[in-house]
Amino acid sequence: MKATPSKQQAEPADRAKPRTRTKKKSASAQPQHSSSKTTWNRRHLLGIEELSPEEIIYVLDTAAGFAEVSTRSIKKVPALRGKVVVNLFLEDSTRTRSSFTLAAQRLSADVLDFYSAGSSLSKGESVRDTARNIEAMGVDIIICRHSAAGAAHYLSRCVECSVINAGDGQHEHPTQALLDLYTIREKKGRIAGLKVAIVGDIAHSRVARSNIWALRKLGADVTVVGPTTLVPRSLETMGVHVSHKFDEVIPEMDVINMLRVQHERMASTVFPSVHEYTWLFGMNQDRLKRARPDVLIMHPGPINRGIELASEVADGPQSSILRQVTNGLAVRMAVLFLVNQAAHGGGPSDDPTKM
Ligand code: CP
Repeated sequence: MKATPSKQQAEPADRAKPRTRTKKKSASAQPQHSSSKTTWNRRHLLGIEELSPEEIIYVLDTAAGFAEVSTRSIKKVPALRGKVVVNLFLEDSTRTRSSFTLAAQRLSADVLDFYSAGSSLSKGESVRDTARNIEAMGVDIIICRHSAAGAAHYLSRCVECSVINAGDGQHEHPTQALLDLYTIREKKGRIAGLKVAIVGDIAHSRVARSNIWALRKLGADVTVVGPTTLVPRSLETMGVHVSHKFDEVIPEMDVINMLRVQHERMASTVFPSVHEYTWLFGMNQDRLKRARPDVLIMHPGPINRGIELASEVADGPQSSILRQVTNGLAVRMAVLFLVNQAAHGGGPSDDPTKM
């Protein structure tokens, strides 16, 4: 299947030339791609690092087809009818879990929401045994969130069904990056050549890692910003610029993605105080005035209002935070559809957005 792209997405800007870079960057930064002949052959989605630029664009284009489904009075298509999807979330989530649940339901799948609280994990059952027992009930796709990096990869070797990574420790959060790129492309018309800042605890952030892979693969110019303890120079090996001076970076940026301050880390030795962090790296109205007038402010959520992001900015006209959440649904419908199609040997076929 190749979902019909919307008019806007039929002209993606992945055609625009990137701006000249001043530093040597990683070899993955190849800008222009067309997804027209690309198919998706992966029955798992475990990370962005292993995806080609064409595969990323193919997911975004497929999501564009599914976005329209959510605007209908009956928000449902039969693409996954008869399939069973399990949300195996062993870490808390609001957006990702709800989004995957709704996405699967809109594709007509049966959905099982597994919660670790109240499960036999408390009796010592391993995650592997838990997943294999659930799979034995006839499951097609397991969506896994876990605090350990590599958990989704591990699970994909333990079960026969498809596995989607919904966040594994500090490693990757692939669908967050895909929905972020979808939103950037929707708002800016392109990704290649855009200047994107990611601000916060980059070293420990799976959102940052997945975003960096995805943005660089599609030719964006990425700067990571934050204190030296959270944004080490070694990140340059991922093909990004490193800055510890937010105010110097702000005026150049097309997109600024603010990450959540993780209080648990702030309480340790990485930064003197949350107040000082906000003073140096928080996005507020004063800083926004120094940004480009069309700057896009992003945040994956959950937000610490008044810390990394002032409420007036979070709720202001340049914020795309709720749009990111809306787009996440279409992106996850696309991911569920594509991994299921790959698992069952189908190539692009009928339009799955048809009733
Ligand atoms: N952005 C994100 O992953 O949010 P949740 O933790 O609520 O799923």
